[in-house]
Amino acid sequence: MAEVAESDSTQSAKTKKQAVKIREMTIDDLGDVFHLGEHLFEARKAPNTYRAWDEYEVADLFYSDTEYCLVAEHEGEIVGFALGTTINKNRSAWKYGYLLWLGVLPEYQRSGIAERLFYRFKSIMLHDGVRILVVDTEADNRPAIKFFQRQGFANPQEHVYLTMNLDQERQRMKKRDQGN
Ligand SMILES: CC(C)(COP(=O)(O)OP(=O)(O)OC[C@H]1O[C@@H](n2cnc3c(N)ncnc32)[C@H](O)[C@@H]1OP(=O)(O)O)[C@@H](O)C(=O)NCCC(=O)NCCS
Repeated sequence: MAEVAESDSTQSAKTKKQAVKIREMTIDDLGDVFHLGEHLFEARKAPNTYRAWDEYEVADLFYSDTEYCLVAEHEGEIVGFALGTTINKNRSAWKYGYLLWLGVLPEYQRSGIAERLFYRFKSIMLHDGVRILVVDTEADNRPAIKFFQRQGFANPQEHVYLTMNLDQERQRMKKRDQGN
């Protein structure tokens, strides 16, 4: 019985994988990508460090880095996405590629969709002269870490992320400026 269930799920994962199309994101996908990310990242609060998932993040990336925004589509539904950017450092010949957001609808996970998104993302980056790819995620996001290691990312480094609330200082500054 267990064997039948396993082969059924393997079969359905394979079928999904074959039918899913990886393509460039278009303006019509903005809303769907945002809602899928909201669903995925809400559960984890903040899957990567200093960036927040909101509609501006998706729209900004889409408009500034359209070529690095990919989606996975199955029967008209957006089931995954990969959004990134590139960074050129001053006085450095190295161009960095940064995969900022990667997500797959839970029912479609473990069927190779993120792998296909990443493969396409990487080939676009290679084509554009990127020499180092960077990703970041929370230290306890085991699926993501396993996934990135499987793709060949190495040398994971933990770093501490601190925040400072400038609100009171800002209010004081505002009052001071109004007094002048
Ligand atoms: C991380 C994530 C994108 C992986 O997507 P996916 O489509 O399920 O990944 P794939 O099916 O392509 O996995 C490829 C390989 O990665 C590894 N992997 C992926 N998910 C894993 C998990 N939950 N546990 C262990 N290994 C995992 C496996 O080696 C897997 O190969 P296998 O299924 O043959 O064992 C998905 O879990 C997700 O959307 N997570 C929530 C959002 C998030 O945290 N994104 C990352 C930070 S922005």
